[in-house]
Amino acid sequence: MKVLNVFYSVSGNTKKIALQIEKTVKAQGHEVDTIEVTKNTDKDTIDFLKYDFVFVGTGVYVWLPPQDVVDLWKNIQMKYVKSGDIKVYAPRRANKKAVTYCTFAGPHTGRNEAIPVPKYLGQLLDHLGFEVITEWFFEGQFNNKDSFYDQFNTKGRMGNIIGRPNEDDLKRVDSMVSGILHV
Ligand SMILES: Cc1cc2nc3c(=O)[nH]c(=O)nc-3n(C[C@H](O)[C@H](O)[C@H](O)COP(=O)(O)O)c2cc1C
Repeated sequence: MKVLNVFYSVSGNTKKIALQIEKTVKAQGHEVDTIEVTKNTDKDTIDFLKYDFVFVGTGVYVWLPPQDVVDLWKNIQMKYVKSGDIKVYAPRRANKKAVTYCTFAGPHTGRNEAIPVPKYLGQLLDHLGFEVITEWFFEGQFNNKDSFYDQFNTKGRMGNIIGRPNEDDLKRVDSMVSGILHV
């Protein structure tokens, strides 16, 4: 299978997950392209339709994906509308599958404040006719130099998330990726 592994990571948390995804996909014998999105990523850098299986992940920023990703998603969406690849009623495409995920700290309302992110990321793929098989959530330490935010990593709804994602999280990613590739 040809696998695409797209991620955006401000402080490196999502990057840890994405690099583990890359490692596991390769170990399972598949071909993988990993693309780290930045504010300069052009819409033509990414062609989802070249791939059989897509992973997409970002951090959560005030309940949403980072603005750079929203801007890029809008541009890619327009590209596929113009090319005719996003069709009205979004017919399904055979053998096109995706998983979306986020890393999040959930200091106030826990997973609830992260839920929109994998949903948003997946809509572009759903519009293209991919089956978004599932959405994953991984705890990610809130990285901010201001000590006010330290409490977000110890007293929030997710409990103590210092150092997350950690080795155990990456083992979980390895196991989940190995499983999902068989779907
Ligand atoms: C400015 C800022 C805003 C954030 N907003 C949220 C939020 O609304 N909800 C949440 O669960 N986590 C929030 N986080 C935590 C990040 O989503 C979390 O640390 C994530 O793992 C960062 O991933 P990245 O380093 O790959 O970008 C925020 C972090 C920062 C620095």
